[in-house]
Amino acid sequence: MPFIIAIDGPAASGKGTIARALAEHYGFYHLDTGLLYRATGAKGGDPVEAARTLTPADLERDGLRSSEAGQIASRIAIIPEVRSALVEFQRRFAAQEPGAVLDGRDIGTVICPDAPVKLYVVASNEVRAQRRAAELGADPAQMLSELRERDRRDRERDTAPMRPADDARIIDTSNISIDEAIAAAIGIVDHCRS
Ligand code: DC
Repeated sequence: MPFIIAIDGPAASGKGTIARALAEHYGFYHLDTGLLYRATGAKGGDPVEAARTLTPADLERDGLRSSEAGQIASRIAIIPEVRSALVEFQRRFAAQEPGAVLDGRDIGTVICPDAPVKLYVVASNEVRAQRRAAELGADPAQMLSELRERDRRDRERDTAPMRPADDARIIDTSNISIDEAIAAAIGIVDHCRS
């Protein structure tokens, strides 16, 4: 049985960094599922059709990491048919041996509810806005309002809203270093594997 690590949390919480580090540490595959929604939104046209016809080349498109692409992704992610079009790809990805790390908003609750390890990564709004601003060379106040808007939409949608699974372990990265956050995550995974 492949080992699945499900990581969810809001934008700029550190979940992507933790996911990449865990994948490297354990030799697992890694999927940033936000990229699927970003690529779907960036294709333009009917988002349901865009999700159904998504190709690996679409994931290589320029500008997917921008904050605008994140806002568009969050808007099309509320459409149930967009989400359902992307489910099978994510589940197939998760089933690869020897294991996979998937990060997103609904991995522990909807995509891989049986994952043996579920992490929910959070950080204060201010810390997340600072991080995103530094990453994108943008204004922290502007980032703060964008993150708030996006979180609210992701949390309040009817289909697969962002929330921790009941059995998720919470990691708050507000006041710890990247290395400490990664060490905490490895500690949790090792405990679950033994
Ligand atoms: O993780 P990210 O910032 O790249 O995600 C962009 C948007 O995509 C996010 O605001 C909501 C949506 N998303 C989602 O609905 N479900 C996921 N599993 C991942 C992302």
